[in-house]
Amino acid sequence: MNDSDQHTRPDTAPTSQIWGGRFNSGPDQVMDAINPSIDFDRRFYAQDIAGSRAHAAMLVAAGIISAADGAAIDQGLAEIADEIANGSFVFSRALEDIHMNVEARLREKIGDAAGRLHTGRSRNDQVATDFRLWVRGAIDAIDGQLRDLQAAFIEQAERHYATVMPGFTHLQTAQPVTFGHHMLAYVEMFGRDRGRFADARRRLNQSPLGAAALAGTSFPIDRDSTAAALGFDGPAINSLDAVSDRDFVIEFLAAAALTSVHLSRLAEELIIWTSAQFNYVRLPDGFTTGSSIMPQKRNADAAELVRGKTGRVIGALNALLVVVKGLPLAFNKDMQEDKEPLFDAADTLSVCLAASIGMINGLTVNAPAMRASLAAGFPTATDLADWLVRALNMPFRDAHHVTGSLVKMAEDRGVDLADLSLADMQSVAPAITEAVFAVLSVDASVASRTSFGGTAPELVRAAAAAARARYMAST
Ligand code: ARG
Repeated sequence: MNDSDQHTRPDTAPTSQIWGGRFNSGPDQVMDAINPSIDFDRRFYAQDIAGSRAHAAMLVAAGIISAADGAAIDQGLAEIADEIANGSFVFSRALEDIHMNVEARLREKIGDAAGRLHTGRSRNDQVATDFRLWVRGAIDAIDGQLRDLQAAFIEQAERHYATVMPGFTHLQTAQPVTFGHHMLAYVEMFGRDRGRFADARRRLNQSPLGAAALAGTSFPIDRDSTAAALGFDGPAINSLDAVSDRDFVIEFLAAAALTSVHLSRLAEELIIWTSAQFNYVRLPDGFTTGSSIMPQKRNADAAELVRGKTGRVIGALNALLVVVKGLPLAFNKDMQEDKEPLFDAADTLSVCLAASIGMINGLTVNAPAMRASLAAGFPTATDLADWLVRALNMPFRDAHHVTGSLVKMAEDRGVDLADLSLADMQSVAPAITEAVFAVLSVDASVASRTSFGGTAPELVRAAAAAARARYMAST
C-alpha cells in the first residue's frame, strides 16, 4: 500500500450532493484536511443567511421563483440562523463551507425548494458578499473601540493639561512638555487610524451579490435591491472584479497593522514609564502581574503583550498580500486563505485595543517624579538660546553656541543652568542680564510654547476640548 492508497477513499465514497454530478468517486482523504473552510467561515453565518434571504426575496420580486418557494426558503433560513445561534446546528466538514452547510440543512427542512435559492448566484459572489459584510461590522466595532481609546486619552489630557514632564527626542531629555500634550498626540494618531478604517469601509461597501460565478447571470435579477437590502451603497460595477477583489481584506489589514504599530509605540512608552528608573506612571493592578520569584515585581504584561501581538497583525497583512499577488481573475480557491488571517488580526486588534483602553483609563500619573526628572538634562537650554535671540538680538546660531558653552559650564559643576550666577553667564556673553533667569524655569518654558499646536498648558486645555468636540460628538 503506497501513501496515496492510504489517503484515497474507496471508489464507493459518496460524491458531494451539491456539486458532485460529474464525479465518479469522492474526494481523497487529504481533501478532508485541506479543502473545508467550515471551521472558520461559520463565523459569518449570520451574514451568509442575511445575504441568502435578501437574494431569495429579490428572486421572488423579479418573478424568478414562486412566492411560495420564497416564503419556505425565508422561513427555513430564519430557523437555521436560530439553530446556529443556539448551538444546535450540526456542521459538516464534508459540506466544505458555511454556504453548503446552510443549503444542505435548508433542503432537509423544506425539500426541493431549497435548490431554487442558488438561482442566479454562485458561492463566489456569495462568499465575497458575506465577507464584505463581516469586515464592515468589524470596522464598526473597531471604530467604537478607537473612539473609547481617544476618550481615555482626552480625559487624561484634561486632568494633566499642566502636568510637566520631559519631552524626549532620541529618548534624551529635549524640552519640557505637558503630559496632557503627550496624551493628545495619541488622540491624533488614533484619529488617523479611524480615518483609514472609515475610508476602507467606504470602498468596501459595494455588493458583489449577483456577479454570480464571474460573468453575471442570464436571470433578470435586481442587484440594486439586494445591495440596498444588505446596506451596501450599490452593486459592485464589474462582475469579474466583484468576485476576485480582496482589496477590502488587505485594506482592513493595512489599517489594522498601522493601528497595531501605534498601540505598540504606546505600549513601549508605558513599559518605559512604569520602570523603576522612570516611575512616571502606575498602571492599574488589573493590567500588571507579579513575579513568581521576585516579590517586588509589577510587570507591565498587558503592555508587553500589546507590543508583541503587533507581529501577528503585521504578519496577517503580509500573508494576504502574498496570497493575492499571483492570482489571475476571477475566483481562485487560494482566496479561501483570506479568512483566518483576517479573523486573527481582527480578534488580536480588538483585545489589544481593550487592554490599551483599560490601561489608559486606569493610569495614575506621578507628577512629582516627572517634574523631578526635569532637573537633569538641561531641558530649558533652548529657552536660554531663544532669550539670547529675543533680548540681545543675537543670531540663533551664535545663541546656540553661547548656550552650549553655558551648558558645559553647568555640567562641569554638576548644577542646572538656573544655578549659574549672572557673572558666570556674562563671562560667556557679557550682554546677558538678570532677566534671563525668568525663562529658565520649566513652567515658564511650557507656558511660552504658545505657537499653534504647542504645549503651553492653556493651549493643551483648549486642544483637549477641541479634540472632544472633533472626535466624540459623532458616533
Ligand atoms: N469556501 C470558499 C471560500 O472561502 C467559498 C467559495 C468557493 N467557491 C468555489 N468555486 N469553490 O472562498
